[in-house]
Amino acid sequence: MSSLAQALRAAFDSRRPLLDELQQQGTDCYRLFHGSQEGAAGLTVDRYGPQLMVQSFHQALDAQALQSIHDEATDFLGQPLQLIYNDRSQSNSRIDRSNQAHQPEDVALEDQVAHEWGLRYRVRGRHSGQDPLLFLDLRNARGWVKQHSAGKSVLNLFSYTCGVGLCAAAGGAADVWNVDFAERNLAVGRENGELNPSLPPMQFVHSDYFPAIRQLAGLPVSARRGRALPDYPRLVQRQFDLVLLDPPAWARSAFGTVDLLRDYQSLLKPALLATAEDGVLICCNNLAKVSMDEWRPLVLRCAEKAGRPVREWQALAPAADFPSRDGLPPLKTLILRL
Ligand SMILES: C[S@@+](CC[C@H](N)C(=O)[O-])C[C@H]1O[C@@H](n2cnc3c(N)ncnc32)[C@H](O)[C@@H]1O
Repeated sequence: MSSLAQALRAAFDSRRPLLDELQQQGTDCYRLFHGSQEGAAGLTVDRYGPQLMVQSFHQALDAQALQSIHDEATDFLGQPLQLIYNDRSQSNSRIDRSNQAHQPEDVALEDQVAHEWGLRYRVRGRHSGQDPLLFLDLRNARGWVKQHSAGKSVLNLFSYTCGVGLCAAAGGAADVWNVDFAERNLAVGRENGELNPSLPPMQFVHSDYFPAIRQLAGLPVSARRGRALPDYPRLVQRQFDLVLLDPPAWARSAFGTVDLLRDYQSLLKPALLATAEDGVLICCNNLAKVSMDEWRPLVLRCAEKAGRPVREWQALAPAADFPSRDGLPPLKTLILRL
C-alpha cells in the first residue's frame, strides 16, 4: 500500500467517532484528510454531501494518486461520491482549470446540496471563486451561533456565503444581517436561504466592511490615504446582540486594509462598538502564524481601550476533522461577552 493510502486510512479511522456524531447532527460535510497534520502537507480531502473535493496546494497530484484517494474514500464511507479535484499549487492558490490529471464529470460540476447542523447548503465544485462555498473549520462556531441566537439580532460580518447567518436564522434570531462586499458571495447566501424555505428571511448588505461597520458603530467613514471616497450604502447607527467577525487574512479596498497580522484592532474596535451591552462578539483569526496566546491579549486589550471590556471569554476550537498535533489550529475563535 502506498504511503498516501496508509495516511488516508489512518486519518479516516481516527474520524469514526466524529462521523457518528456528525451524522446525528445532520451534517454530511467534513474534512476527511487534513494533510498538513496527517502526513501529506498541502493536500486536503473534504466531503461535501454527494461530492468528494480534493485540493492540492503544494504540488499537483497525478491521476493514480487521485484515483487512490477516490477509491479509499468511497470504500471507507461505503457510498459513491462525485470526484472534484482542484489543483491550487500555482500562484495565489488559483485553481488550475486545465489540469490534465483530472477533468471532472458533468454531474460533479452540477449544483449540489450538502447538509450541516440539519441545514441545506449550496455546493458547487467549480465556480468563479477559488474556495469551496462553505469553510468547514468554522462548523463549531456556526453550531454555537445556532444554539445561542433565539430572539437575538445577529450581525454576520465578512459573511461570505452566509453560513453563520443561516445558523442564526435557524436558531430563532429576530433579525439577521449578512455583510460582504462581494455580490457573488451574497448571491450564494440568498440561495442558501432559499434552500431552507422554512427559515425567516435574512438581510443582505452589499457593502465594504469599513463603511458598514463604522456607520453602525457611529464612527466617521474615511477613505484610505489620498483616495476619493467611493459610494457606499448608508446605514444608521445600531447595535446587535450577537456579532460575528471572521475576516480574511488580508484584503485591500478603497476604504481600508484588512490585515490580521499587523492590524486586527482596526477591524475589532468598530465591531465591539456595534455589539450591544450584554451582547456577544465572536471574533476569529485564521492566520497560522499568529498564536492564540499572542492574539487573545491583544483582543482583550483592544476591548478595554474601546471602552467595551470583556466580562467573560471562551475559546472555541475547530472539530476533530481539523486535527492539530501542536494544539495550535490556524483558525482561532474567541467568544467575548461584553
Ligand atoms: C474568509 S471569507 C470569510 C468567511 C466567512 N466568515 C464564513 O463564514 O465562511 C472572506 C470574505 O470576506 C469578504 N471581504 C473581504 N474584504 C472585505 C471588505 N473589505 N469588506 C467586505 N467584505 C470583504 C470576501 O468577499 C469574502 O466573502
